[in-house]
Amino acid sequence: MSHRSLLPEAVERYVETLSTTGRETDVERRLRTETSRMAQGGMQIGPDQAAFLALLVRATGVRRALEIGTFTGYSALAVAKALPEGGRLYCCDVSDEWTQIARRYWHDAGVDGRIELRLAPAQETLADLARDPGPGSFDFAFVDADKEGYDAYYESCLILLRRGGLIAFDNTLWSGRVADPAVEDTDTVALRRLNAKVQADPRVDCCLLSIGDGVLLACKR
Ligand SMILES: C[S@@+](CC[C@H](N)C(=O)[O-])C[C@H]1O[C@@H](n2cnc3c(N)ncnc32)[C@H](O)[C@@H]1O
Repeated sequence: MSHRSLLPEAVERYVETLSTTGRETDVERRLRTETSRMAQGGMQIGPDQAAFLALLVRATGVRRALEIGTFTGYSALAVAKALPEGGRLYCCDVSDEWTQIARRYWHDAGVDGRIELRLAPAQETLADLARDPGPGSFDFAFVDADKEGYDAYYESCLILLRRGGLIAFDNTLWSGRVADPAVEDTDTVALRRLNAKVQADPRVDCCLLSIGDGVLLACKR
């Protein structure tokens, strides 16, 4: 199991075990396990975060959702499973190889019919979605792709979301690097700027959560 949060390792293991026991389906476990064996496996969210996203989707009655950064499909599976009958999840990614794995598991889980995967740079897909289904037509967005793109994804999501819609940005603590002013690489600077921008933005209510590698939640006013 990779260490992906700021919690001490034993506590992280406790949280992950508790999040999966009795609740994780066989398909979810198989996908999480297969992905964790890949060299890039650390990119997938943990089961506690998957449970959190699913809870948000259910509790807020999300019908149309968006994911930016799908990889092998674990976070998308959590969101799709939580959607009601007739709900739809649009997934953005650029990797055919990784999303082939996602498609296989979505099929096994029986949620492939509610997921539309768009293989293109996310900004292109977001521009397409702004034409159809159009502004204000999404209830929820999960952002987990290239960190330098987060600010542009934020602006696009604010157009696509309805009032009261939620955006969840992953990795906003970036292993704690955002809190260290001496760290100035482009990804850290992009995430630090986004955290500050959203915090000061009168267009949203927001909260930075220390779950996983940090999740910044913003709700469109
Ligand atoms: C951190 S992974 C996503 C992990 C996934 N949410 C999960 O929990 O399993 C980031 C993904 O973003 C994709 N990505 C990177 N840049 C992108 C871009 N400009 N447009 C769309 N997808 C992009 C990568 O191909 C990769 O699959």
